[in-house]
Amino acid sequence: MSKIRRIGILTAGGDCPGLNAAVRGVGKAALGRYGIEVVGIRDGFLGLIRNRTMPLDKTALSGILTVGGTILGTSRVKPHRMEEDGKIRDVRDLIVKNCEKNGLDALVCIGGGGTHMNAHRLAEKGLDIVTMPKTIDNDVALTDTSFGFDTALGIATEAIDRLHSTAHSHHRIIIAEIMGHRAGWLTLGAGIAGGADVILIPEIPYEVEKIARAIRRRSEGGSPFSIVAVAEGALSREEAARFKAAKQRKSKATTDADREQAKAELTELDHQHAGSTLRLSSRLEQLTGLESRVTILGYVQRGGAPSAVDRLLATRLGSVCAELVHQRVFGVMVAARGEQAHPVPIKDVADKRKEVPPDHPWLQCARAVGTCLGDE
Ligand code: F6P
Repeated sequence: MSKIRRIGILTAGGDCPGLNAAVRGVGKAALGRYGIEVVGIRDGFLGLIRNRTMPLDKTALSGILTVGGTILGTSRVKPHRMEEDGKIRDVRDLIVKNCEKNGLDALVCIGGGGTHMNAHRLAEKGLDIVTMPKTIDNDVALTDTSFGFDTALGIATEAIDRLHSTAHSHHRIIIAEIMGHRAGWLTLGAGIAGGADVILIPEIPYEVEKIARAIRRRSEGGSPFSIVAVAEGALSREEAARFKAAKQRKSKATTDADREQAKAELTELDHQHAGSTLRLSSRLEQLTGLESRVTILGYVQRGGAPSAVDRLLATRLGSVCAELVHQRVFGVMVAARGEQAHPVPIKDVADKRKEVPPDHPWLQCARAVGTCLGDE
């Protein structure tokens, strides 16, 4: 087999701290240890479609370990369903041509669930690809964790720490809405670390009355304030039932028309979900008699320098990624397993989401210390 001489690296999906550390890890190992030239692909998969690249030489890789975001830029485009001028086209063949034009022997794609789906679909077109798990959500399947998560966990925890001040000064309910898309890892971790009194995650549909009862009990016990950590994807039981029914209709759809109808229904439910944290806040005010205020942490959780843990993880996975490329092990994601890193098939990761299991130790410890999870 011929030696790998030149690879492209892209970052796709939501940005996060640690992305540049990962690009640096792959790049320095590929260049320095294996003599592989590295090309940066701009703005995720869009750069492959538009053929937009930048050199990733020693100079470009220097000084980026601690820099937030991604020096390459990112996007959320899906090559198999590229929306342009109102049309949807599969542009994967153009990507294959552009990889050939740039003399790329392989691709390294760094991203979350959607990126792994895109990578899998490009591997089906014959491209040699290795991926790495990136996201603050920590919801990438088959890996212990993803870089970006530890930094975001620290940011969200510090925010909860700070919100305690105003909660007990004003005897208020303070609700912190935390990112995580449709998984509860970030909210659960930050809620426990920040000592939230209530933690609501997508995996456990909540009942407002039970939350209100827990807050009233705290108040009657001499703590007339509460911190609620709510995942942006957390659902009431009623909402969860509506989503479940719509998903079932989509999975049972036998015609394109039925599938489109079910998809439209899910999109509408997503739109209705917007603002649910504010509605929860006013509902809790009514049920407890306490004032309630909302802080949406949003993109602050994705900003700034990566934590030491994320730098270490990104560098560790990046160096293994370069090794797998050198050994021509393709179609795999570099999965973190304890202190080790193992290749797992991209097809087993793509379009899957790692959710918080009902018996997870984090849930057990939260219940043990009396945290209300909205279901009891
Ligand atoms: O996947 C990371 C994430 O921050 C999610 O937690 C959040 O729901 C989503 O990205 C926001 O997407 P965008 O950056 O496209 O607004």
